[in-house]
Amino acid sequence: MSPHVLSVASEAVPLVKTGGLADVVGALPAALAAQGVRLTTLLPGYPAVIAAAKRAKVMHSFDALLGEPARLLSATLNGHPLLILDAPAYFARDGGPYGDASGKDWPDNWRRFAAFGRAAADLAAGQVKGLAFDLIHAHDWQAGMALAYLRFASPKGAVIPPSVMTIHNMAFQGYFPANVFSKLGLPKKAWALDGVESYGGVGFLKAGMEAASAITTVSPTYAREIREAEFGMGLEGLIQSREGRVRGIVNGIDTIEWNPATDPHIAKTYTPKTLSKRTANKRALEAEFELDRDDGPLFIVISRLTWQKGMDVLVETIDHLVGIGGRLALLGSGDATIAEALHQAAQRHPGKVGIRIGYDEALSHRMQAGGDAILVPSRFEPCGLTQLYGLAYGCVPVVARTGGLADTIIDANLAALDAGAATGIQFTGVTYAPLADAISRAVHLYRDRSLWTAMQRNGMTADFSWARSGTAYANLYKDLTAT
Ligand code: ADP
Ligand code: GLC
Repeated sequence: MSPHVLSVASEAVPLVKTGGLADVVGALPAALAAQGVRLTTLLPGYPAVIAAAKRAKVMHSFDALLGEPARLLSATLNGHPLLILDAPAYFARDGGPYGDASGKDWPDNWRRFAAFGRAAADLAAGQVKGLAFDLIHAHDWQAGMALAYLRFASPKGAVIPPSVMTIHNMAFQGYFPANVFSKLGLPKKAWALDGVESYGGVGFLKAGMEAASAITTVSPTYAREIREAEFGMGLEGLIQSREGRVRGIVNGIDTIEWNPATDPHIAKTYTPKTLSKRTANKRALEAEFELDRDDGPLFIVISRLTWQKGMDVLVETIDHLVGIGGRLALLGSGDATIAEALHQAAQRHPGKVGIRIGYDEALSHRMQAGGDAILVPSRFEPCGLTQLYGLAYGCVPVVARTGGLADTIIDANLAALDAGAATGIQFTGVTYAPLADAISRAVHLYRDRSLWTAMQRNGMTADFSWARSGTAYANLYKDLTAT
């Protein structure tokens, strides 16, 4: 029998998104349905989620979740079952899912996501009438406590299902001061090195990892990298102790949402066979970013403006990029200092550099369709999705050799060019010289039109659909539930 899986996460497209986690959680139900696995998603009831679930049914009322009343609503997510934790005291707030409109974290995030975990644990342990699950799949620190509650505070006699903890980004661990422990409603024994305690505080991701039957992350290279202190960020020892049991499963992309042949957001649709039609999208993008028209490559960046994404180093290389005949269109939000430095670069290079600060899904599609190359200079990248969208749209990825970027892009070295296999450019080390050199290589390769077109076609015809990764998750679920 195929298992029924409860997927617990804090974001999912199209309802709520701050990054790639939402893309993945939103795509998983269909990816697993194709494998015969039924997946029900549990999301927090943020205003946007409640608003989108107009015909939601009330499934259950919790008397109190860490002291506040809450209800469980049943709705659909992209045609698949969705459960919403409607807890106004925790989630009915303006701003983002984790902080206020200015980006400052909510001070009670520990309580919000502990309550979310508590509800998920009750569900997974069969405490809600009419709902039964064979496995619970928790994503990132916001869902980690679900596994800790199941392990340490399940109702007597409840059957605890096997669990998967997926790490989408080790840099976000949900780490809180020790004094929150007494308010979590966990027994004293949970305060232990192999429990929820982490470096003297409470670690939500760590708690989930300790309790999980299996741990996964979103690429094989990142699964190896997080054994080292540089990437493990304090949890490398725990990863090492699970040696052999931490799997890296590369994310797929939603090929209906991200398909240049049918994309409603772009000026002109195209396929690998009609690449010349991309020009209309490039012209539209130049106009939108007020860039000069010329023969050089148009680089794009779509990113959170953070240290992780190497955006500080990107800023340093802009003069070089323009100096050798490139142009840049960037869409991003995040660090205000980086945004200011980008604006200054745009002022230095009118007609060559265009910057949009903000979050704009439709614009991100137009950029992938009109740009020649997408720059992804991340210092670390668990998987990365923008380079995959770049491949699908013939916007050649120029990426740092780390995590999922290393696993998904074939560098245009002599051997790969000779074999006709290259899909992009990789560079090692996120500092000025390697990034500037990679940009130079891109400008140089771009001049060879037939070679560049071949790289675009290789990327566009590569399979990054969910088919492969869906099978990997389905097999993992089946292994864990087969007893
Ligand atoms: P991360 O989740 O670490 O930010 P990913 O590459 O996995 O990195 O996913 C980022 C997702 O967010 C992609 O879907 C990307 O297109 C989108 N994105 C990032 N910044 C913006 C932005 N400013 N506007 C629109 N989409 C963005
Ligand atoms: C995280 C990572 C990113 C990954 C995404 C989805 O946000 O930073 O690399 O693609 O999760 O798994």
